[in-house]
Formats: sequence, structure tokens, C-alpha cells
Amino acid sequence: MTGEIGAPAMVDIGVREPVWDRFFWVAPLVIVGSREADGGYDLAPKHMAFPMGWRNYFGFVCTPRHGTYSNVVREQAFTVGYPRPGQLVEASLAASPREEGGEKRILTALPQHPATIIDGQFVEGGYVELECRLERMVDGFGENSLIVGEVVAARAAEDALRVSDGDDADLLRSAPLLAYLHPGRFARIEDTLSFPFPAGMRK
Ligand SMILES: Cc1cc2nc3c(=O)[nH]c(=O)nc-3n(C[C@H](O)[C@H](O)[C@H](O)COP(=O)(O)O)c2cc1C
Repeated sequence: MTGEIGAPAMVDIGVREPVWDRFFWVAPLVIVGSREADGGYDLAPKHMAFPMGWRNYFGFVCTPRHGTYSNVVREQAFTVGYPRPGQLVEASLAASPREEGGEKRILTALPQHPATIIDGQFVEGGYVELECRLERMVDGFGENSLIVGEVVAARAAEDALRVSDGDDADLLRSAPLLAYLHPGRFARIEDTLSFPFPAGMRK
């Protein structure tokens, strides 16, 4: 087509510094729950968090500086809750810094309920809840570690659950998803389209 503008020039952003804040990328936002050493419960948002393959494994990236890391080492378990867009503030508050005694008292303001199989809590109102037993931790990605759990119990809210004869677009319109757009933005996803898979594609 005449008059079409060419692709923008590519700029070398270098790799001396981490590249991840230089452009936006799409991530989920989950709330990871773990049991604290004093018997209380911790909740912390994570965006570097994803299924680890096609079976029931879930992984997230953490740093040993966070309470979540030492809690999971000690307790060998964690919860994963997927908040709805309307729970953005709750998800954000769960990242509040710990107070001097190491507490995160703000968490007591978040309505919660317990996990069923592992010892952990979920923020009330999420659309998916996973209970995970630690499978393995891999340290050494710079200051970060990958924490992988096997999903041992799972629940999904009725309105978020796919049904075989249902319309996926309608489902997402009535139960929208929350996306974290790193760094520092978010989106409510409700208008979606079917993915155009190539003919004959196999997983
Ligand atoms: C939107 C958002 C996403 C975050 N994603 C991550 C993440 O993927 N990995 C991580 O280690 N920390 C992440 N954090 C930071 C931790 O949740 C935060 O530092 C938390 O307070 C750590 O709590 P803890 O000491 O109770 O584990 C994120 C924070 C926010 C606000």
C-alpha cells in the first residue's frame, strides 16, 4: 500500500542494566500467601508468576529478602489467589512494607479465608485459588529465585469457570481479568477475541 509508514527503527537498549523497565510487558497479578514464623499469615502480590508447563505446577519469582521466600522454605507450601480487577487495591496493599517488628499489619484489613489442604490464607473474592506444596526452589537468577509448587488443591469461582458449551467472550466480559503491565500500570481485560491458531497446530 502506498503511503504506509515503515516499522519504527530499533534502538539498542543495552544489557548493562536490566531491560525490563524500558518497555511495557503484560503480566498476570496474583497474590501469594504463606505462613509466617509466628503463626500468622503473609500475602504478597507477584507478577512474575505463571504455570510451569502443562501439568499442575505453578512458579513465581521471589527474592530471599522477602518474607515469602523464607516462609516457603520453612513451611514447604504456599497459596496463589488470582484477584479480580476490583481487588486491585487489596493486591497493592499486600505489598506494603513490613513494620519494625517485621509485621505487615495492613493485611489484617483484608478479608481472608483459610486454605483447605495446606496451611495458608486467601484474600476473599479472587476468581481462582491454588494450594501448592513446594516442589523446588532454584536460586541464582541474579538476586532472584524461582519458587515452584505442585498444585494440590484448586478452586475457581463459578462465574469464571469455562463451560464446554459456553461463550468464552461472554464469560470474560462478565468476569474480567486483571493484567499487570510492568512497570506500574494495569488493565482490566474484558473485550477479548478468539486466537487465530494455525490449521493443524498441535500442542
Ligand atoms: C504489582 C506488584 C508486583 C510485584 N511482583 C513481585 C514479583 O513478581 N516478585 C517479587 O519477589 N516481588 C514482587 N512484588 C513485591 C512484593 O510483593 C513486596 O515486596 C512484598 O511486600 C513482599 O512481601 P513479603 O516480605 O511479605 O514477602 C510486587 C509488588 C507489586 C506491587
